[in-house]
Amino acid sequence: MTVSNEHELAGLQRVGRLVANTLEAMRRALEPGITTAELDEIGRVVLEAGGARPAPELAYGFPGATCISVNEEIAHGIPGPRRIEPGDLVNIDVSAELGGFFADTGASFAMPPVSRATTKLCRDGRRAMWTGLRQAQANKPLAGIGEAVGHFARANGYSLVKNLASHGVGRSLHEEPTEIATWPNPSDSRIIHDGLAFTVEPFLSLGAEWAEDGDDEWTLYSQPRAATVQYEHTVVATRSGPSVLTLPG
Ligand code: CO
Ligand code: CO
Repeated sequence: MTVSNEHELAGLQRVGRLVANTLEAMRRALEPGITTAELDEIGRVVLEAGGARPAPELAYGFPGATCISVNEEIAHGIPGPRRIEPGDLVNIDVSAELGGFFADTGASFAMPPVSRATTKLCRDGRRAMWTGLRQAQANKPLAGIGEAVGHFARANGYSLVKNLASHGVGRSLHEEPTEIATWPNPSDSRIIHDGLAFTVEPFLSLGAEWAEDGDDEWTLYSQPRAATVQYEHTVVATRSGPSVLTLPG
């Protein structure tokens, strides 16, 4: 959506803070032994206490309040009986609707002990996201985001998953502009206009190029199999730069 007044901005900020606080509560609960279903329930309680509805359920009938993806899973993992183990790489993605507004955030967490390469991948995944985010400014090209993230990945020896794009958000979970690449895409000539709300969510990897379907209708897997992280914020682009909505507070 394009934010055109204070009421819309306040609505987006409210749901943005709530999904961020939900992700934070789930991060604090994340420890070996917890099941992904238990973790999801913690997220659901925080969202519903805030008056929100989990967006994956609402928008797509997803079987869970949040998406929790472990190791070989990189996105849209279904909460269930799987227990988190030491050494796991866990992605939590939280999106919700509150008062007619949607926001979307996500992050990956490594459960110790993990290799130096995995620790560095997590740190650099966040850096890749912020590198893209800084391009979210009114009147700049939308493709500048993928250009910047692509440059970061190349310079640091990472691959990017190239079929999971960022997206417009606000009045629904996924809306125009769709297919915002977080990799170089010179054919995209769209310009970011003032007030545009969208996500920036690169998938940085130690080798994966694509996300592929598995046995269920939701979970996506890295292809080729390799450690992969995702960090996601919802932003509103302004003339002076990005206003990040999904910070805890
Ligand atoms: Co998300
Ligand atoms: Co998203």
